[in-house]
Amino acid sequence: SAAEKGGYDYFMLKEIAEQPKAVADTLLGRIDANGLLTLDEVRIPDSVLREVDKVVIVACGTAYHAAMIAKLAIEHWTRIPCETELASEFRYRDPILDQRTLVIAISQSGETMDTLMALRHAREQGAKVLAVCNTNGSTIPRESDAVLYTHAGPEVAVASTKAFLTQLVACYLVALYLGQVRGTKWGDEIRSVIRELSDIAAAVDTVLETMEPVRELARSLADKNTVLFLGRHVGYPVALEGALKLKELAYMHAEGFAAGELKHGPIALIEKDLPVVVVVPSPRGRSVLHDKIVSNIQEIRARGARTIVIAEEGDEAVVPYADHLIRIPATPTLLQPLVATVPLQVFACELATARGNEVDQPRNLAKSVTVE
Ligand code: G6P
Repeated sequence: SAAEKGGYDYFMLKEIAEQPKAVADTLLGRIDANGLLTLDEVRIPDSVLREVDKVVIVACGTAYHAAMIAKLAIEHWTRIPCETELASEFRYRDPILDQRTLVIAISQSGETMDTLMALRHAREQGAKVLAVCNTNGSTIPRESDAVLYTHAGPEVAVASTKAFLTQLVACYLVALYLGQVRGTKWGDEIRSVIRELSDIAAAVDTVLETMEPVRELARSLADKNTVLFLGRHVGYPVALEGALKLKELAYMHAEGFAAGELKHGPIALIEKDLPVVVVVPSPRGRSVLHDKIVSNIQEIRARGARTIVIAEEGDEAVVPYADHLIRIPATPTLLQPLVATVPLQVFACELATARGNEVDQPRNLAKSVTVE
């Protein structure tokens, strides 16, 4: 009903708008008076977490894109090797797991069969499993050693939005917590990342307030057949997520590529007026990556692409090459996906509407896939 949708036309629009609160709620109660983490819910003893020598993250769909970003945070902050794997591939390749492996299973619904099968396999091999889940008491957390709940609230639209942002927040917390118990990340460092994470809700709000040009752009592309997405580092999973949203909602051919792979194939797809969305990393911090992406934008534009550039506020280097410029607030590099994904959700939702598609219930898709 209209009331359930909180005045929005679709649950997806409501859920996109709820993201600042969902992000803030997922941090709530998990930071102590000293600005450090207290994840008492994670009932895996610190002594076990200190011995972990490998992390493996399994998930499907949008949750898998959260996993790819989590890997970068975990390795950067803890120096523990971390792999990600699509849950549907995981157990069929006889993965190497033992008592010192921490498996993180990310699932909004907690009922995805492939993810459940992956975690069962991991536990049979003696690994410890931590679920990151949005649904209290669902199967995946019940069968895991521990759970860190995301506090997104119920997500009704089939295409995941607010659950994704809270999965990222929860994974950042797990990464910091691992650093905290193992002593690879301490005191002031943790406090400063926590502070930056706490500022993100307001940054997401800022993004949401500036989405009208993105909606207009989406409407203008309604009769296109293909949209490509490019990104690097954390921007690569964001590009994949932007493409997934467009497939799910707009039924368009959409593909995400690592920008560095452009010359190894994707550049052959570039033709006049092809819309290409580029997620640009912050020019501060990893400036090498930033400069490389700027030359990628030049390269595709020289071949006729219509460039849609998502770049941090104040990044002037992209201006000459952006046919459409979508600004996002400056954030630390690893946290950028929390703001960079939002315009892509809005873009896909508006394109779906413009193409006359059912936003909340896309054809052929289910909110949770409970068969293998
Ligand atoms: C389905 C949904 C996606 C979701 C995926 C994983 O494909 O349509 O939105 O990302 O399942 O679901 P989960 O509940 O495990 O996060």
